[in-house]
Amino acid sequence: MKKRILVTGGEGFIGSHLIDRLISIGFDTASFDAHLNFIDNHRYFNRCFKLRKKHLKVSSKIYRGDIRNKESIQRVVADFSPEVVVHLAALPMARVSEKYHHDMRTINLDGTLNVLEVFEQSQARKIIYTSSSMAYGHFKQTPIAENNLLTPENLYGATKAAGEYFVKLSKKDWVIIRPTSVYGFTDCSNRVTQLLIDTAILKKPAWIIKGEILDFSYIDDVVDGFIKCITLPQAIGQTFNISKGEGRAVSEFAKLVKVYFPKFSYQIRKADNHQVWRGSLDISKAKRILGFTPKYRIEEGIQKILELIKEYNFYKGLN
Ligand SMILES: NC(=O)c1ccc[n+]([C@@H]2O[C@H](COP(=O)([O-])OP(=O)(O)OC[C@H]3O[C@@H](n4cnc5c(N)ncnc54)[C@H](O)[C@@H]3O)[C@@H](O)[C@H]2O)c1
Repeated sequence: MKKRILVTGGEGFIGSHLIDRLISIGFDTASFDAHLNFIDNHRYFNRCFKLRKKHLKVSSKIYRGDIRNKESIQRVVADFSPEVVVHLAALPMARVSEKYHHDMRTINLDGTLNVLEVFEQSQARKIIYTSSSMAYGHFKQTPIAENNLLTPENLYGATKAAGEYFVKLSKKDWVIIRPTSVYGFTDCSNRVTQLLIDTAILKKPAWIIKGEILDFSYIDDVVDGFIKCITLPQAIGQTFNISKGEGRAVSEFAKLVKVYFPKFSYQIRKADNHQVWRGSLDISKAKRILGFTPKYRIEEGIQKILELIKEYNFYKGLN
């Protein structure tokens, strides 16, 4: 019998790619997702969501529900009876902390506690919790390793760090993953990578922050990391940075986009007070314990995204 995996936030960017991969390697999957949108561009969001859902519908169960409602998680867990829960559902954008303060607290804190409580009472053996590099706050060093103190600089980072402490209280098996700057096709959270490609295609104004360095992590590599954490027994009870492990300037990313769209231009702005200065994650622990080997540099990642955009004619009618 196939192993059953429940993914909260399974219709989201990372969740949908993860489910696709889990299915391809023989798992039974279910998504639990509330279909929430915190970006202003609804047409873009709906197109992404439709595309992901179309993919998932073929071979995954899809449950609609909100993790803030414990009974609805209980119903799904009773119906699907997962062995592993991957918890991705969150309000995942630091920048909207102020605008969606209440949602950030109730989804990322109360919602996570609900998921954990239902998991604890269920037959499921293992939970994978998705934290973030934002839990570190400003990087005290780069690359930054897992054993650095968590000193988040914003509400989002603080909720992610809190979730880590909640998960560690579990009496069952847990794994914590800290991804960063994940990019790929069907991301629609207005992250810099998506915005740069969007604005280049739609010929709109773009800007980047002076001096910003990020550890751009291609979605397929990040999914590899999740799969290892789900399947390998040595992952249990451990926290892993999962990223490319290489800091690159955002200006480099922008210049690479410009190679494909020579007329693309962007402004360089000074950082505001909300800026969290990051860099590269140290992924030597994931390499050593899990054999994690991310493959994609941004040169290949951008090319792949543009190929998929073409294949799906993604921007037709969008402006
Ligand atoms: N993408 C990144 O660069 C990145 C980096 C670090 C950490 N993460 C973490 O990875 C996870 C997934 O991120 P993503 O980029 O796929 O985001 P996403 O917004 O694409 O996906 C999140 C999904 O969760 C769902 N959701 C939100 N609130 C919910 C609720 N109350 N109940 C049920 N479902 C709800 C949304 O509808 C969405 O489909 C998040 O926990 C995020 O904090 C992402």
